[in-house]
Amino acid sequence: MSVSTGARGLAGANHEQAHPEPARYEDAVLGFRNHWYPAMFSSDIRETEIKTLKLLGEDILLKRVDGHVYAVRDECLHRGFQFSAKPECFTKNTITCWFHGFTYSFKDGSLVGIPSDPESKLIGKLKLHSYPVEEHKGMLFVFVGDLNPPPPLADDLQPGFLDEDRYIVPFHQEEVASNWRIAADSASEFNHTFIHKEDDLIHYWRQPLPFAETPRSDNPYEGFTLHEGPGPKGFTDSFTDVIPVFEFKIECDDEVEVVRSAYNPMTEQGSLSVQAIDATLTLPCGLRIGPWGANPGDPASADYVQYEWYVPVDETHHRYIIAWAKKVSSEVEALKVEHDVRTRWSYIAYDGFNASDVRANEGSQRAYSEDGYEFGEKENLSRIDAYVLTWRRLAAKHNRGLQVRYGGKK
Ligand code: FES
Ligand code: FE
Repeated sequence: MSVSTGARGLAGANHEQAHPEPARYEDAVLGFRNHWYPAMFSSDIRETEIKTLKLLGEDILLKRVDGHVYAVRDECLHRGFQFSAKPECFTKNTITCWFHGFTYSFKDGSLVGIPSDPESKLIGKLKLHSYPVEEHKGMLFVFVGDLNPPPPLADDLQPGFLDEDRYIVPFHQEEVASNWRIAADSASEFNHTFIHKEDDLIHYWRQPLPFAETPRSDNPYEGFTLHEGPGPKGFTDSFTDVIPVFEFKIECDDEVEVVRSAYNPMTEQGSLSVQAIDATLTLPCGLRIGPWGANPGDPASADYVQYEWYVPVDETHHRYIIAWAKKVSSEVEALKVEHDVRTRWSYIAYDGFNASDVRANEGSQRAYSEDGYEFGEKENLSRIDAYVLTWRRLAAKHNRGLQVRYGGKK
C-alpha cells in the first residue's frame, strides 16, 4: 500500500468549500465533490510511468515515483498547456511544461522553476491542484475535492472491501456513454434484471435469477436497511420482501405470449434461493452485490462478491469498474481465486451479464441529456422504483458537495 496526500493548490481555490453543503441529486451531473473515487488499477501505472485520467470533469496527471502514485491537475498554471499533450520529466519527481518550461513537483504540485525567470516570486508559491491518492487491493483511489485532510477512504467504500481476508481481483474497466447516475440508479434494482433473462451467465450458472420482482408488502421500502451512521453512507436491499417473477404473460389483441426467464425454478430445480443475495449501494458511486451461490457441480464457484463502481467522467460518460472478491485464509486460496477470476469468471461475468447493463445504461442516455429537462423529469416512476428513490434520497442527503466544471460557477 502506498499513500500520498497532496496539499491543496492555489489553482483549486475556486473550488474551495470550507463546509460543503450536500448537493441535489438532480444537479450532480458531474458527480459529488469531496469524495474518493476509484481511478484505475495498480497494474495500469508502473514505476516512472505517467498516466492521464478524467474524473468528474477534471483532467488529472498521475505518476508513480518510488512506488507511490501522485496526482496533479493536468494543466499548467502559466497559460494552461495540458502537460499530457507532451509530458517532459527531467527528474523523477517533476513535470515540466513543454510550452515555456514551468516545472512543478509531482509530490505537492508546487512550482520549482522557470527557465526564463529563475528568481520569480511565483516559485515556491504557485501550486498545481494536487489530489490525494491511496492504493489498496490492486486499485488506485483519488480524492476529488478540497477537504484537507480528506475524510478516510473507508468512508467512501462498500462494506468489506478493505478487510484483510478479502482477496480482490479487479478485472474490468471501460468508459460507458451514459451519465453516472443512470448506472447508479439501476445498480441492482431487481426489475432491471429483465435485461439479463437470456444472458449466458444465467445459462452457465443455472441460478434462478428472476427477471423482475414485485413488492410483497404495501410498503416497498420495508426490505431496505439504511446506513446513515458513521462510516459509508448508503443502503442494503436483501431482496427479502419481494415476490420473484419468472414469467410474463402478454395479451394484446388476439395474441397471447409468455416470456420466460432462461432458467426458471418453477420448472427446474435451482440450487440457490435468490433471497441469499444482498446488494449495498454506497456513496459516492459503488455497489457490492453477492455472495453468489454455486454452479451445481462446481462448489468453488460459490461465495464470490462483486464490487463495482460508476465513476463520473464527464456529463455523458462514466467509467465502469468491476472487481470480484472472496474471503480467503491462505495465499494458496488467494492464488486460486486470482486464477479462477482471470481465466474464467471475468469473461462470463462481463460478456455474459454486465455487458447488458452497459447496453441498458447507454440506451437510456439520450432521454436524460436532452436540453431543457431536469434529470428525471420525464420519468414515470411507480412503487417498484423504491430502490431508485431510496438511493437518490440518501445520496442527496449525505454527499459532500456539488462538483462543478473546473473554473465553473457554483
Ligand atoms: Fe506552461 Fe507556459 S503554458 S509554461
Ligand atoms: Fe444488471
